[in-house]
Amino acid sequence: MKKVFAIMVSAILLLTCLAGCGASGATLEQVQKAGKLTIATSPDFPPFESLGEGGKVEGIEIDILNIICEKLDVELEINQMDFDSVLPGVTAGKYNVGVSGISVTPKRQKNALFTDPYCLAAQAIVVLKDSAIQTKADLTGKKIAVQTGTTAESFCMENNYNISAFTANNDAQSALLTGKVDAWVIDDLTAADMVKAYNAANGEQLVILSEALTTEPYAFAFCFGSETLVEEINKIIADLLADGTVAAIFEKYEAPYTAPNN
Ligand code: ARG
Repeated sequence: MKKVFAIMVSAILLLTCLAGCGASGATLEQVQKAGKLTIATSPDFPPFESLGEGGKVEGIEIDILNIICEKLDVELEINQMDFDSVLPGVTAGKYNVGVSGISVTPKRQKNALFTDPYCLAAQAIVVLKDSAIQTKADLTGKKIAVQTGTTAESFCMENNYNISAFTANNDAQSALLTGKVDAWVIDDLTAADMVKAYNAANGEQLVILSEALTTEPYAFAFCFGSETLVEEINKIIADLLADGTVAAIFEKYEAPYTAPNN
């Protein structure tokens, strides 16, 4: 019996270690020595990160990261991937920072280290014009498109909605347009940007409902071990919030800005 117990304890210890003490994030010193900050991003999330001319990644968060890198005196290295690979890549120590309109949640905070938030966002409902869905209550029993691994997905799962998950945001939008789903739940500012672009090119077909489903602070994610780096970046973020730089960047992208409650 004692032996079985001992084996069980070592198995638990091994599993905890496999989950928790694998990778260690880069320190401020390591990043400055390397001369670069590597970011993981899913550039399908305008106005925060999207592909501009010549496939260049651009957006609010790229502007903020460029300033952060300038202040740290390092280069910015951008690595593109699907959203559901961003946090795993960061917590495995493959990239220094997750930059992807990432909402801070208690669950994510168990696995990753977050900077202080720089803005607040919300989940919004997008439907086709003339849809029977007009409020959150109408979502029950309907098929809803979300992006895999997002807070939209977890929100819909917690509410027992019938979801269809897509790795790319564009595919979630297409599912709504082709009638494969009845609604699309996505972060409000990205909804505004994508709906505006689509409607401008195709006529007013998509509508964003006014009811916000959540409130979510956005921040940048790191692997545990990067505490000194996060501390330094928090100081930079605090300055950029205080001197109006963050608000001005939102304005540049014509996005309404809601400051975090830091
Ligand atoms: N804010 C949401 C989340 O953290 C969605 C982020 C999606 N980001 C992206 N680049 N596609 O889950």
